[in-house]
Amino acid sequence: MQEANTQRNTEGSTAARFQTTRGTLSEMSKLMRDLAGADRRRVLVTGAGGGIGDAVARRMAQAGYDVVGTVRDALRAEALSQDAARAGLRLRYLPLELTDDRQVEALGSRIGAEGALDVLVHNAGFGVFGAVEDVDAATAARQFAVNVLGPLALTRCLLPGLRATRGHVIWIGSLAGRVALPFQAHYSATKAAIALISDALRMEVAPHGVRVTCVEPSDFATGFTNARCLSRRDDSAYALVSGRCLAEVEKQERSAPDPAWVARVVQELAESADPPPRRPVGSNARRICLLLRLLPARLAERMIRSHYRV
Ligand SMILES: NC(=O)c1ccc[n+]([C@@H]2O[C@H](COP(=O)([O-])OP(=O)(O)OC[C@H]3O[C@@H](n4cnc5c(N)ncnc54)[C@H](OP(=O)(O)O)[C@@H]3O)[C@@H](O)[C@H]2O)c1
Repeated sequence: MQEANTQRNTEGSTAARFQTTRGTLSEMSKLMRDLAGADRRRVLVTGAGGGIGDAVARRMAQAGYDVVGTVRDALRAEALSQDAARAGLRLRYLPLELTDDRQVEALGSRIGAEGALDVLVHNAGFGVFGAVEDVDAATAARQFAVNVLGPLALTRCLLPGLRATRGHVIWIGSLAGRVALPFQAHYSATKAAIALISDALRMEVAPHGVRVTCVEPSDFATGFTNARCLSRRDDSAYALVSGRCLAEVEKQERSAPDPAWVARVVQELAESADPPPRRPVGSNARRICLLLRLLPARLAERMIRSHYRV
């Protein structure tokens, strides 16, 4: 009996030693893969030179992802890459102008050739402000080219790779895509378009294991306010009211929260196996969505007009 116990103990300790050795070997091989960067998930963030995109790119890099951010200016891309390398971040920047089809295709091919992409964050965008009657055709077209058509083209280029990794497409939409904002018709329309593209895409790629989410921020303090394209004619019939509305919009944006909040949400979504289709984020964002669902349309519109002093 004692002999049997001794033998069992000897077998147990051999097995334990074997387990420990196997554990150590697997830890070592994981460490080696980590060092080689093979285990890192790759993320592409468009418009990563400031605001929400910058916050997302840096947060993901700090969390251990291998991040590529885009900015429009090639020299700036170079300088930002060097800064990030000095800070010890796996974050590099490539140039991308979303209205340039060739640049979009070149970036898509390069990202595809460099290896698997796990997360695509469509963040780059800007807003046009002006009455429907005042905004000219070229400005309207540019709003859709940057916010919708460029991201769509990039999605087409990168989807084969994202299907291979069973990756995740995250669109930075806006609460302005849930409800139309006065004097921001074009911007609201692009964000509504993004949300619906996101919804349709999710159904198409679900069988391939690709996740698709639309993040819907309310106001955040970023360069968005200064970058806004103001389309106001001197003889505009809307000058007084649109001026009042713009002052209110800018005041609210400038006192809004830091975009780090959006970055945290994007990371959570990227790491979720079952992310929600849409994710409002920001002060009162969820409450606003609930109200918009519950309130009669006329009452909701009255509240929006009063909010923007229109
Ligand atoms: N801030 C808010 O309150 C808010 C609320 C809801 C949704 N959003 C959305 O969040 C996203 C990020 O905006 P943000 O607030 O962070 O504003 P931001 O600081 O102005 O950043 C916008 C980024 O988009 C890039 N971009 C603009 N036009 C481009 C083009 N033609 N081609 C390529 N890149 C272009 C800019 O690139 P460069 O660095 O090269 O200029 C910049 O990095 C946008 O889609 C915006 O609609 C913002």
